Amino acid sequence: MSASAPDRYRPETRLVHSGILRSQFGETSESLFLTQGYVYESSLQAERRFKNEDPGFQYSRFSNPTVAMFEDRMAAFEGAEAARATATGMAAVTLALVGQLKAGDHVVAAKALFGSCRYIVETYLPRYGVSSTLVDGTDLQQWRDAVRPNTKTFFLETPTNPTLEVIDIAAVAQIAHQAGATLVVDNVFATPIFQSPLALGADCVVYSATKHIDGQGRCLGGIILASEDFIQKHVHVLLRQTGPSLSPFNAWVLLKGLETLPVRVRRQSDSAATLAVTLAEHPKVARLIYPGRPDHPQAAVAQKQMRGGSTLVAFDIKGGKSAAFRFQDALKLIRISNNLGDAKSLVTHPATTTHQRLTPAQRAELGIGDGLVRVSVGLEHPDDIVEDMLAALEAV
Ligand SMILES: Cc1ncc(COP(=O)(O)O)c(C=O)c1O
Repeated sequence: MSASAPDRYRPETRLVHSGILRSQFGETSESLFLTQGYVYESSLQAERRFKNEDPGFQYSRFSNPTVAMFEDRMAAFEGAEAARATATGMAAVTLALVGQLKAGDHVVAAKALFGSCRYIVETYLPRYGVSSTLVDGTDLQQWRDAVRPNTKTFFLETPTNPTLEVIDIAAVAQIAHQAGATLVVDNVFATPIFQSPLALGADCVVYSATKHIDGQGRCLGGIILASEDFIQKHVHVLLRQTGPSLSPFNAWVLLKGLETLPVRVRRQSDSAATLAVTLAEHPKVARLIYPGRPDHPQAAVAQKQMRGGSTLVAFDIKGGKSAAFRFQDALKLIRISNNLGDAKSLVTHPATTTHQRLTPAQRAELGIGDGLVRVSVGLEHPDDIVEDMLAALEAV
């Protein structure tokens, strides 16, 4: 096996080459190691491998060459010392939080979280004696006021799902560190192409690799990136002992996805920006939210911490739920699906799908009205996307 680590290269180059482990056959493309275990040359080697004195793999619940390539490539790109891949994005979020916490601890999180992440913080952790406070992530004073002596970690996603609010990562990291807490950032919506939370002061970044990293709607996956110390202390043992591991096959799909990630994300985000221009002026649209625009509520923060806009656009259709349903049902090219980051453009109505479990008051607090629609812009020709949207708006 040989590994290449061309750290001196630019980000796009690292996404094609970093972390590659070539076998004795010198294959061009990354190998798929579909194996559960590994054989040892001798009893002594097995003993030394288990004592961590002999480098190599032991069992694919905790290490596998294809998974390692994915982890190393992501770490090289993100500028992280270490990474651990997981079976899904939710496994990554859960491990990154649970690994740091014990009964009696306290978590502060932004309330505009993906539904399952909010469930972990609001419902699941308290069952084990970990209390939590949800704040308006854009209001820095609320983060400060929520701190308690037992606060161990802060958690946020930015831009948020589905209203694309932008939270100031550097400012929240500073508040967390002053409180002796860590900051975990879910960077799914921004993607590693447009935002680097670790460079902004976060201690840990998590991804649902299911989204843009695969980018073609095929497999689930997740990854946790942080310092070697954070991974060893909080993630490594828990992942090894509880087993929410990424399958080598999915790691291989995700590795190949990384090669094209910058090209896809930039193209999708350019198309989303074009769509936002059209929607902002449309008489049937009451409000348009797009992080790349000067009229975004946190435009200054977005400009400070993001290198691009977003592949997602959110907007309120005048006429509430019935108008939003008519619009979605009239789309011909763009399909109704709660997923995002796919090559195929997808549309969802958060109030009746992803955020259905929240009360109307909780949805109102988050700006999720009955007319809100979220579009994940894909790789189709931008004119076809815009034409489909305009024709569907005509039907409203
Ligand atoms: C912001 C965010 N975080 C985490 C997840 C969970 O990822 P997964 O579905 O891969 O578990 C999702 C989507 O499902 C998401 O949108």
